[in-house]
Amino acid sequence: MELFDAIKGRRSIRSYGEREISDEFLLKLTEMAHWAPSAGNINPRYFLSVKNRDKIEMIKSLSPGMFGKPAAIMILCADKDRARKKASTNGDVYSILDVAMAAQNMLLAAHALELGACVIRSFHAPAIGKLLGLPDHIVPELLIALGYPAGDQPRGVRPELNGIYHRESFKGSVVNDQK
Ligand SMILES: Cc1cc2nc3c(=O)[nH]c(=O)nc-3n(C[C@H](O)[C@H](O)[C@H](O)COP(=O)(O)O)c2cc1C
Repeated sequence: MELFDAIKGRRSIRSYGEREISDEFLLKLTEMAHWAPSAGNINPRYFLSVKNRDKIEMIKSLSPGMFGKPAAIMILCADKDRARKKASTNGDVYSILDVAMAAQNMLLAAHALELGACVIRSFHAPAIGKLLGLPDHIVPELLIALGYPAGDQPRGVRPELNGIYHRESFKGSVVNDQK
């Protein structure tokens, strides 16, 4: 898949079929996420995969922002201790940005493997951390719901590029939020 097509073709998919996702694919997604940039190359990231149906249901019950029945969930975590030790007060924000970078790699990799995926921030992090046995300093920052796509695929929507791109200096906001 050509990179520009992959970037523009990826959509958040929230409706999934029953088909299982192989462990090999989940490992490939993690490998691609792991190669995302990391501030100071600190790499304060952990990735957990969940395929167990009961556990998926439990995570779903703790995640108001999760829709459909994913076949797997990836939990992208930030190691706050490691980030703070290496980057002091910048550690907190670096670790979140690092996870976000990894998430985009994972979403694109999922798209390349013809998986549907949706990144999710609306979840109860402490409860999910407890469910998965995470120590307090390893915080789930994002979930990625995964499954083979089912049903109609959503179309991409973005504001006009010429309203958000400025050369040399900011020319003022012309983004129309009145959709
Ligand atoms: C930080 C972040 C948090 C998000 N949280 C959720 C979420 O909790 N639930 C959800 O369904 N989608 C979530 N999304 C997905 C966005 O809704 C989606 O990317 C946006 O509507 C644009 O659609 P597209 O990804 O298909 O281009 C999140 C996206 C980002 C970047």
